[in-house]
Amino acid sequence: MTTTEQPAHADVGFGRRPRVEDARFLRGKGQYVDDITLPGMLHGAILRSPHAHARIVSIDTSEAEAHPKVKAVITGATLESLKLAWIPSLSHDVIAVLATDKVRYQGQEVAFVVAEDRYSARDALELIDVDYDVLDPVIDAQRALDPGAPVIRDDIEGKADNHIFDWTAGDKDQTDAAFASAEVVVKQDMLYPRVHPAPLETCGSVAWMDPVSGKLTIWCTTQAPHAHRTLYALVAGLPEQKIRVVSPDIGGGFGNKVGIYPGYVLSVVGSIVTGAPVKWVEDRSENLVSTSFARDYHMHGEIAATRDGRILGLRVDVLADHGAFNNTAQPTKYPAGFFHIFTGSYDYPAAYCTVKGVYTNKAPGGVAYACSFRVTEACYLVERIVDCLADELGMDPAELRMKNLLRPERFPYLSPTGWEYDSGEYPRALAKAMEMAGYEQLRKEQAEKRARGELMGIGVSFFTETVGAGPRKHMDILGLGMADGAEVRVHPTGKAVVRLSVQTQGQGHETTFAQIVSEVTGIPSADIEVVHGDTDNTPFGLGTYGSRSTPVSGAAVAVASRRIVDKARLIASAMLEVSPEDLEWDRGKFFVKGDPSTAKTIQEIAFASHGTQELPEGVEGHLDAECVYDPPNLTYPFGAYICVVDVDKGTGQVKVRRFIAVDDCGPRINPMIVEGQVHGGLADGVGMALMEVIAFDEEGNCLGGSFMDYQLPTALECPSWELGETVTPSPHHPLGLKGVGESATVGSPPAVVNAVIDALKPYGVRHVDMPLTPAQVWRAMQGRPFRT
Ligand code: CDP
Repeated sequence: MTTTEQPAHADVGFGRRPRVEDARFLRGKGQYVDDITLPGMLHGAILRSPHAHARIVSIDTSEAEAHPKVKAVITGATLESLKLAWIPSLSHDVIAVLATDKVRYQGQEVAFVVAEDRYSARDALELIDVDYDVLDPVIDAQRALDPGAPVIRDDIEGKADNHIFDWTAGDKDQTDAAFASAEVVVKQDMLYPRVHPAPLETCGSVAWMDPVSGKLTIWCTTQAPHAHRTLYALVAGLPEQKIRVVSPDIGGGFGNKVGIYPGYVLSVVGSIVTGAPVKWVEDRSENLVSTSFARDYHMHGEIAATRDGRILGLRVDVLADHGAFNNTAQPTKYPAGFFHIFTGSYDYPAAYCTVKGVYTNKAPGGVAYACSFRVTEACYLVERIVDCLADELGMDPAELRMKNLLRPERFPYLSPTGWEYDSGEYPRALAKAMEMAGYEQLRKEQAEKRARGELMGIGVSFFTETVGAGPRKHMDILGLGMADGAEVRVHPTGKAVVRLSVQTQGQGHETTFAQIVSEVTGIPSADIEVVHGDTDNTPFGLGTYGSRSTPVSGAAVAVASRRIVDKARLIASAMLEVSPEDLEWDRGKFFVKGDPSTAKTIQEIAFASHGTQELPEGVEGHLDAECVYDPPNLTYPFGAYICVVDVDKGTGQVKVRRFIAVDDCGPRINPMIVEGQVHGGLADGVGMALMEVIAFDEEGNCLGGSFMDYQLPTALECPSWELGETVTPSPHHPLGLKGVGESATVGSPPAVVNAVIDALKPYGVRHVDMPLTPAQVWRAMQGRPFRT
């Protein structure tokens, strides 16, 4: 038999490559949860509360149970008997799987019907009779702590108010002193409204408790299959080896699929009760009304500066609306996530923030919607208030930013609230964005238009993201440290498989993680299979959210791949009968120093590792390696964005005419995929800035329960994005990589809002809360004279 030879291949290492997963997605061959069909499978549907706050007096399920196709009706009482009515939330609270005592938000789960088909399950919901005693709801977070406000969480012993937590970061005295010495102080209230991740695919699960093997398999839309399995084990008392969680193709996550939803648990209970597999897939309204929202931060910011524009300090006070259960997904130590990165990208000594969390009668969640745990809110706060300061000082907002941006020599930089930024070349990124935009020319054009009475705005934002949680000693979810494993195995013929703990939801991991292995080992990407999303077949890890895959799991893959190369060197030395030190590595092969023709390819070495070749002392056969990567720090991608808008004076309609985005995520594994991530994030940002909001009426009715009401941006609202890049490697990531998945969602909303406010400058408008719908913009102009 001949060994495999290294083919002359362009498909090695980093570079622009089409996504391998597209072959199945474009042909309609993706395998999503709703595509899974098992023999004898039943279907579940959830009865949800029409009220935001009501006591449950009684539930009559007899008529539903009599439906000929119904197999089981499960209520809170059923779950109480199984001790499954309440499960731990991601933030050391509990959430109700099915309401037992009260319903606490509109859309909360009340009963679960299992039937032979989806339609019968839905029909039977209508046959359940629930008697509610309606209570006053708490909708306005500002009033949640009023004395006399109805207490939402009376299930918690001794709870007499709606307060969840108080949290502070930074140095109060130092910040007060900075403000006392300031020549200028600007204050601004701003709301980051409740928005929804609204992934293309809603949440769902198929559960099958095999009565013969006793093994529970759950296929579900999860961004964190291993963490889910551990949680099921802890809650249900099943041993972990008897639980398999499979996360198949997922149509987008954006943070919405991190936690465990009642529907997942109910499909498991349904399978246990009926002895058959049970599928539950929610519809769009259920997803929008009941699953994890994002943001809902009421922020008050104050910025102190000298008259010539040197920032001295920032003070922030936040009221955080967490909904009816505290189920925010973020590391335990950080009840406000990473919000204290609000100091942003600027160099000043003093900052302080307080965050108060409250319960309201709204769906729980507070997920990191395409951002690393509240970084989006933080970025919006600082980027808006810097623009307010520029307005107060009469300075150009780009000039004010340039004056205060952290200089390269300040890195690694310890922020006033305790973050160590790993690397950055901020002025270079902003200069590049300004050059791409033709900033000076744009300002001239704007002046001419203003003179003609037209509204054109230019918005600048600069962001610093903090992505790649852990380190494990500082960060955990429910006690599970945030480190991730990876395994690389090279087959005898030199093809390879890499197993990941993280789980793609459309980001293209099957392409880029193969490229990481390829970059290090020289094995062509096409020869590398990526396995993920199945707890039986992958190493343990905390999953994909907060752009942590590349910084954490990508590092694990790089380290494991290096271990492969290290082992290959020893085997090659035996094959070539030289000492390991006499070998040189030329990606994909070892050759004898000074004699490039005497070489062994990684494929030949792989075969030898499985063959009859005598291996050096202490070297076990086979070419495989693994790594559990505990990141020493987060990575800090950054970027400079410029948005140009035109606003229709008569209607308040905003048109995003141009958007320039310069991103720095270190080296790019696959520039095409990075650009796709940025495109998506920018569209997200335009949507949040201009259109998206989950609003409620006074009774707690959710007003954003369909795509008729919850507006998402389409190609019509998006300009042709103009992208640029700078490359500043992370000093601690083995390949210098920083995450990028969420950068554009974090950085773009303030650029759009700053642009609109800039357009409204002739009216003396300093701030308008998102979403900047035509009505909102039009209202802001009313009663104000236009002054050029
Ligand atoms: O955790 P998540 O995958 O959502 O975010 P990410 O780690 O920032 O990666 C998003 C996608 O961009 C993945 O396919 C990455 O491998 C890719 N990426 C890249 O090609 N180069 C980088 N420097 C960072 C990410």
